[in-house]
Amino acid sequence: MSVQKATAIARANIAFIKFWGQRDAELNLPANSSLSMNLAGLTTITTVEFSPDYDDDLVSLDGREARGEARQRIVAHLDRVRAMAGLQVKARVISENSFPVGAGLASSASGFAALSLAASRAAGLALSERELSILARFGSGSACRSIPGGFTEWTAGTSSEDSFARQIAPPEHWELRDVIAIISRAHKPVGSIKGHALAPSSHLYQARVASVADRLAQAKAALLEKDLATLGPLIEEDAISMHAVMMTSRPPIYYWLPGSIQLIHQVQSWRAEGLEVYFTFDAGPNVHLICQAADQAEVERRLRDIAGMLEVIVSGPGPEARVVESF
Ligand code: PMV
Repeated sequence: MSVQKATAIARANIAFIKFWGQRDAELNLPANSSLSMNLAGLTTITTVEFSPDYDDDLVSLDGREARGEARQRIVAHLDRVRAMAGLQVKARVISENSFPVGAGLASSASGFAALSLAASRAAGLALSERELSILARFGSGSACRSIPGGFTEWTAGTSSEDSFARQIAPPEHWELRDVIAIISRAHKPVGSIKGHALAPSSHLYQARVASVADRLAQAKAALLEKDLATLGPLIEEDAISMHAVMMTSRPPIYYWLPGSIQLIHQVQSWRAEGLEVYFTFDAGPNVHLICQAADQAEVERRLRDIAGMLEVIVSGPGPEARVVESF
């Protein structure tokens, strides 16, 4: 075993066309393909060291030792890497997020992308981008989109081998911005693992899945043409479609808070005034406002003026997951 320790960096991503619901939970194969932008400003840096000196896997997340389910998910991912590398030794994992802890932003995409790269490299494996994306998918579906850089598409595929993300345009392709309005830092009522499993119980689910391919093709073409007037409404439609499925699942999941709805209306009136900005959501109440770089300062300013706004985080398109250091 030559390399035993490696550090990798990966970015979170915001989906323009979302993943919500699986056709195979064990392999984490999605019901539909999805499209996203990596977020340069939202990073996870993870170091993994395999050593015979450790009696058990030690996991530190943002300076605190992980326990319970959070630790278990990471240990299961280390087990996948150990199985691939034929390795038996335990590991020490140290992971730090650049974005504020507990800001209600999903860290699983950047987290599992960085973990996949650091752990595989530390285990002596030299995986291709495709293999890394597939490995990251097992940790968290959206993590497979944080392996390639820029704007990426996760093709649903027909099996585990062809369900991975590819770059459709590099980060420099388009100076888009995700201006994130943090209106709540509370923990999600239902995590995405449970949410994906509940999705098929919604009577809207089949209709959503059937409508995604068309929307994705249109969104991808608009993205490649840098046509925000076409892309924006598709981003909003897809986010609303996903939340409609969430709210009609049995039991229903309500991620929105009054402030989320307030911002939907706000964005519409700002647009009517000529400010080109669109909203989207992940599985949470915080609002992601998508605009071009030239409008970022104005969007930010208007958000900061809203009563109850806890924080505004801004990011442009980010690069691929990278090894920072290996020993
Ligand atoms: O990667 P997961 O299992 O946390 O699911 C991601 C779910 C959403 O963030 C709501 C949508 C997406 O495609 O990123």
